[in-house]
Formats: sequence, C-alpha cells, structure tokens
Amino acid sequence: MASPTQDGSGVQQSVTQADVPPGPDGWPLIGNTLQVANDPLAFFERAAEYGDLVRYELGGVPFTLVLHPEYVEQLLVTDSDSVEKFQFNDFSGNSNQFASEGVLCSEGEQWRKQRTLLQNAFTLDHIEQYGAIMTDVATVHVDSWDTNENIALNTAFSDLTLDILTQTLFDFDMGRRSEAVTQVARAINERSDPRNLSIFLPSWIPTPLQRQYETAMDKFEAIVDTVIKERRRADNLTDRDDLLSLLLSAEGTEGYQHSDEELRDQLLTFLFAGHETTSLALTYTVLLLTQNPRVRQQLRSEWNSVLGSANPTPHDIPQLTVTDRVLTESLRLYPPAFAVFRKATDDLELGGYRIPEGTAITIPQYRLHRDPRFYESPESFIPDRWTNELENELPEYAYFPFGGGPRHCIGMRFAMMELKLVLPILLQEIEFELLSSATPELAPGTTLQPAEDVRAQIQRRE
Ligand code: HEM
Repeated sequence: MASPTQDGSGVQQSVTQADVPPGPDGWPLIGNTLQVANDPLAFFERAAEYGDLVRYELGGVPFTLVLHPEYVEQLLVTDSDSVEKFQFNDFSGNSNQFASEGVLCSEGEQWRKQRTLLQNAFTLDHIEQYGAIMTDVATVHVDSWDTNENIALNTAFSDLTLDILTQTLFDFDMGRRSEAVTQVARAINERSDPRNLSIFLPSWIPTPLQRQYETAMDKFEAIVDTVIKERRRADNLTDRDDLLSLLLSAEGTEGYQHSDEELRDQLLTFLFAGHETTSLALTYTVLLLTQNPRVRQQLRSEWNSVLGSANPTPHDIPQLTVTDRVLTESLRLYPPAFAVFRKATDDLELGGYRIPEGTAITIPQYRLHRDPRFYESPESFIPDRWTNELENELPEYAYFPFGGGPRHCIGMRFAMMELKLVLPILLQEIEFELLSSATPELAPGTTLQPAEDVRAQIQRRE
C-alpha cells in the first residue's frame, strides 16, 4: 500500500513544513472554479495525479483535497478540534445558511449539548421500536404502485423514506405536504452544486437559484411550524417516545433547552438529512441490482430462508449477511454523502504540508471508495468482496459513508436498519426493469443526486 507521503506515481515527495500541497494551475481570480464546475467528480480523479493532498481554489476560497485514509482520520478524528464545518454560504457571504442552528451545522458547546440530547433518540432500543413502522410504510408504498407503471426510483424512494422519517421521529403524517420537502431538498442540492456557477455570486444578487431556494424554504418552514404546533396542542407531550417529544419535553427541564429557532432548525435538519440520503442509497442499490441477476438471486435465497413469507424485523438483521454486503458495496460505489467538508480553524500540519487557517478541506468518500490502492476492480459492484479479510486489511478511513469522529452520522444505525428492512419488501414483491442508463450521470450537490430521474418499470413477482 502506498505511504501517504508518496505521490500517485509512487515517487517520494520532498517537502518542507512551509509548503502548501501541490495542485493544478488555476486562472487569475477564478482559480480552478471552472474545472470543478465542469465535473467535480472528474476533477477529484484528475487531481489525484498531484498526490494525496491537493491544493485548489474554488469561488475565491483556498481548498485542500484529501485523498488518503490516514489524513482523513487525522482531520475527522485526531485533529477534529482544529477544524469546523465548511458551509457553502461561505462562498457568497450569505448569512441565510440552511438550518444553521441545527446539529448538522452548529459548532462548539451548542453542538455538543444538542448532540448529547439527540443521541437519546438513536439508541438501539429506540431504533428497534421503529422497525414495524418502517416495514408498514414500505408495504403501503409498494402496494400503491401499479403493475407496468413507470416510476422514477429517486422520487418514489424519497416519498417512502420521508414518510418513514416523519412517522418514526415525529409521529406526523406528511400527506400531500411531502412535495414541499422534496422541493427544498432539490433547492438545497442545487445551491451547493458547483456546476451552478451562480452559487459563487454574493447572496444579495437575486439569482433564480436563490429565489427558488427562498420560496421553497418558506413552504418548508411553514410545515415545520405546523408539526410543532400540532404536537404542542396534544394533551401530553411526553406521551410519545420519539425525537419530537424529546426536543419539546427537554424545554424547561434539566435537559438542553432549544430556543424556538433551534427547534425549527433541528426539525429542518432531520427532515433533510434523514430521508434524502437513505432514498439515494435505495435508488442506487436497486439500480445496481437490476444489472446483477446473480446477486438478486443470492438476496432472495437469503430472505426466503431467514424470513420465509414474513416481513423482516430488527431481530432478523444479524442473519441478513448477504443484504449487509450488498448495501455496504452500494454505499461504497455511490456514497449518498459523496464528500464531507471542513475548514481549518488553526494552521494545520498534514503529511508534511502546511494547511493554513481558513483553508476549506474536501474529503471525498466518492474518490477514496474507488481508490485502486485499496479496492480491486474498484469500479465494479462486487458485494462478495466484503470478506473478514478485506475488512481487517482495509485502512479504517478507506470506507466511511457515514463520516467519522465526533461528527459522524447520528442516524447511521437508523439508516442501516431502514435499508435492511425496506430492501426485502421492495424486491420480494417487485421486479424493477430499468428504463434509464445503468451508469447514471451524477450531480453532486449536498448529496450525490442522479442528474436525471432513474426510471424503472414495475413488474409484480408471482
Ligand atoms: C444512507 C444514509 C445516510 C448517509 C450516507 C449519511 C451520511 C452522513 C455523513 C457522511 C455525515 C457526516 C457529515 C460531516 O461530517 O460533515 C452525516 C451526518 C449527519 N446525519 Fe447522516 N447519513 C445518512 C442517514 C441519516 C439519517 C437517517 C439521519 C437521521 C435520522 C441522519 C442525520 C444526520 C445528522 C443529524 C448528521 C449531523 C451529525 C452531527 O454533526 O453531529 N443521517 N450523515
């Protein structure tokens, strides 16, 4: 395995502490903005020629791209106190950051207190209680599709995972309101997609993207206000044992008290972070499976022997080992959070290079998960590669779909359980015949969206 101080050609680099990492030339004023905007994932690929740490500049902000697991670990775990989240509105000076007071974006003491409180809703016991809702909601959605219907998997799964999220964590039925949430998710993604050059403009310029975002946010905030109002009107706030009760009943008790703004931002955060990612994971998994009849067969044999004709429950999960490998491999090839972003709050030393305070840092799972130094045939979907042997020899941060360190995904267990319970319900009932390309063009915004809908035709299995 290459050591982190070697470049892509295996040549030892000679560096001094004073050097910033090497990187591709950019244009005056705009740096590498056009190269990144053209195709961010291809840019990561080409940038790897400069080594495991690559300097570039985007929208006037200096960036370092991090391409070795050892440095990923240093930034997310060991030196996590010397970085904070990079926010995409750092480009435009926009003070109107999405859910800035929620746990995804908050920092320091505020983040620590929120995270400690929220953790209580994600214990194994809590999550296992959500199992039956997950399978019931999935069954209702599957039953609503007609035979021969042509559906967009990304939209259908987004509706499904949003229903699961709101019914488990908020005990709230979105009904027709889900359209507004989908619009916001789209607007958030487009507002951080570097292919839209207008994201680099100052926020006071009313670009169509900015206006679309603001309109969608107004609708979204109105929904969140309804969710809070309806629950507050309920007789006993602590009657229910979900995330919303936890947030509301902490008010005035010894628990952390959310301000009204934080409460709203917290719900916005979970509505966005908790369904969009899982929906993408289902979309790419089903897409990959349509191309792999042998793996579909392996899965169905496992489900027939472990589940018979019953719906899966959380207690079946330890036995669903093929399902686990399929999902692990799908999250490797198509990590819904394709990169995590940080900003250095101190001068950092990384692999002998200097990363000055204020530098933005890109840590792309998408690229590390496809690095041939760590994976054989990295572009191929091979669930069987996930043997104990591979897991033992793989550097820890060569695979990190849920991030790492103190800011790792709080919903990881929830998401993995949801995926493992929903996938059998989808595929035992239905054969999805892919109508779109098997290798979709990707549109990396906040999450790894397909550039076009991924469409499939529904066939009921006998
Ligand atoms: C396949 C599904 C999912 C993936 C791939 C995923 C991925 C991630 C990643 C990579 C991070 C770290 C971001 C960073 O370090 O900047 C993160 C954070 C987060 N995720 Fe997830 N996530 C998923 C599902 C969920 C679900 C289901 C929920 C909620 C129910 C959720 C809620 C959150 C929250 C609140 C954070 C912020 C945690 C913090 O900063 O303390 N995620 N997620």
